[in-house]
Amino acid sequence: MEPFRYHVYVCTQEKAEGQPCCSANGSAKVLDALRAEVGKAGLGDEVQITTSGSLGLCERGPNMVVYPEGVWYSRVQVEDVPEIVREHLGHGRPVARLLSGDAAALKAEALENKRRYLAFMAAQKAAAAKG
Ligand code: FES
Repeated sequence: MEPFRYHVYVCTQEKAEGQPCCSANGSAKVLDALRAEVGKAGLGDEVQITTSGSLGLCERGPNMVVYPEGVWYSRVQVEDVPEIVREHLGHGRPVARLLSGDAAALKAEALENKRRYLAFMAAQKAAAAKG
């Protein structure tokens, strides 16, 4: 049994200069808006909100995942938050226009982004080692 009706993970990952990330796309404001809206809706005891590291869809941030369904939202803006809280967290109806895509495509994109980012970090480390 889940301790909360919903558990929302909001990516607030910051990455190196020039690397796409949710933080650079305004995830902190989305997180603040989500917390405020959940409180206003009286869902504070039903909805747990947790920040997370990269979810792997970095070009499409800010991203969030809602469990227990595992619904992924991308390009979430502050203006979208009331609809997500009202429709999804309040009435159990995910907001279709913000969904990240089907599971297989989403997984492939996340894995490709992880591979690219790890290659970038390895190149940075190698460059630093050369001095
Ligand atoms: S930085 Fe948020 S999904 Fe990668």
